[in-house]
Amino acid sequence: ARTAAVIPAAGRGTRLGPGTPKALRALNGTPMLVHAVRAMAASRAVTLVVVVAPPDGAAEVRTLLDAYPLTGPDRAELLVVPGGASRQESVRLGLKALPEDVGTVLVHDAARPLVPVDVVDAVVAAVRGGAPAVVPALPLADTVKQIAPRPDAAPGTPEPVVGTPERALLRAVQTPQGFDRGTLDAAHEQFAGQHGEEGATDDAGLVERLGTPVVLVPGHEEAFKVTRPLDLVLAEAVLARRRA
Ligand code: C5P
Repeated sequence: ARTAAVIPAAGRGTRLGPGTPKALRALNGTPMLVHAVRAMAASRAVTLVVVVAPPDGAAEVRTLLDAYPLTGPDRAELLVVPGGASRQESVRLGLKALPEDVGTVLVHDAARPLVPVDVVDAVVAAVRGGAPAVVPALPLADTVKQIAPRPDAAPGTPEPVVGTPERALLRAVQTPQGFDRGTLDAAHEQFAGQHGEEGATDDAGLVERLGTPVVLVPGHEEAFKVTRPLDLVLAEAVLARRRA
């Protein structure tokens, strides 16, 4: 069975500041989404990449990607489909576009353009080795505090602390997250339509709710998510170092 990568790229990226959708912003002259597609296609295992575009932007994204053809060993097939209102909905629409013969699925954020191919390969290997859900993850640098839900509090007001989970037992998770295709399809069907607090911020979170085991493998610093303006500076520095 084939391995495919689904790249949700339908987010607006408002935390990065105003402007074009995040995935289409350039990093050293090349759109972030193009870096992300290349990062998936760099794995010999990946033969299909499905990009999930903004709901009204599939044609535009297709045109953009065609201007950056995949070459060399990276010649995966490329599909572009329209996404939805939430990341979860966008992934679900990407999964629907997969052909029958796909048995392993990676889900990778367009916002993690620099993930090294070794991480991609390690995730694929663990799924092919029998794990239904595999997530790259790193220990935390910062201690994390838990707060109580405060739906009505004004931003910036002091937040009472409820607890401090033991840092050594926490992990920050990245993508690509890898899945047995049937497992991920079942999770997205079961929990389709849930959003906001009910929804999941990652795909493995949905699989956990099915009661299916999820395992972590080592992630990589360079798989960080480009979210805020400083992340753009860091991403361009990483690219410049790679070229040096
Ligand atoms: O918002 P966040 O940083 O969690 O987004 C992670 C990924 O999900 C990004 O690649 C973003 O483009 C994608 N996304 C999406 N559809 C949405 C919202 C986010 O594909 N409606």
